[in-house]
Amino acid sequence: MPGQVTFTYAANWKLQLENCSDAYHFTSAHPSYIRVLERRQQEISSDVVASVWESSDYWKEDTKGVAGGSYSFANGHVLNWGVFGITPASPLYEQAGALAERHGEARRDWMFNMRNLTIFPNLQIAENASSQLRVIRPLAPGLTEMRTWCIAPKGESAAARRQRIRQYEDFFNPTGMATPDDTVAYEACQAGFAGMVAPWLQGHARGMTASVAGGNRFSDRLGITPERSVLADAQLCDETLFHSYYRAWASRMADAPAANGETPA
Ligand SMILES: [Fe+2]
Repeated sequence: MPGQVTFTYAANWKLQLENCSDAYHFTSAHPSYIRVLERRQQEISSDVVASVWESSDYWKEDTKGVAGGSYSFANGHVLNWGVFGITPASPLYEQAGALAERHGEARRDWMFNMRNLTIFPNLQIAENASSQLRVIRPLAPGLTEMRTWCIAPKGESAAARRQRIRQYEDFFNPTGMATPDDTVAYEACQAGFAGMVAPWLQGHARGMTASVAGGNRFSDRLGITPERSVLADAQLCDETLFHSYYRAWASRMADAPAANGETPA
């Protein structure tokens, strides 16, 4: 099937969950991709960006001082998002007006954000450089299969579709500039987990003091009702979504019949 890729990495399946919900690894793990983005941004006319930016109260007022945020829902489902703005860097740009008419401004504006969604335990939709659907399949405690699809809205122009696919190729899959950075890191983590000398020091505490019960003005605007939320004023460094994963995982493991006396991976 066009746009479908299957690959494996030699590490635990839960590392893919953490990665998708973690915004702060982006700058340290993907510097070569970031350099490409910077070069591309210089090629975009600033006049075009300013004309749309100025027309949207949302981008001027509601997102002032907000870099992004996260939502956690019942049963381990989580979403993290970042403010991108209505920019030609998105293949949706040509439809910005039409999308507002069809879905309302709130949902149109939301579509232009970076959004990484995990439906626990093994389905992800990543909406950032392009749009990717993922299914995660554990093959062993230290081996995971990923099946990924490039997804896109119907009715896109040929130019927008070309942009979406090119940006997809840049970022995703074993041939892209970002996925290999991530999967190599998973494998290094897996090796680190086996270390018996020093305790694992990473921790999962970032964002705990920023996490609040319920939603915020952004979820209200969309009409969604998360259990907890985080808003970031600079880079989103939230790890509280991991807590949702591990609570859901622990709950399922507690309910699972013991197979052979081994600790579940
Ligand atoms: Fe990454």
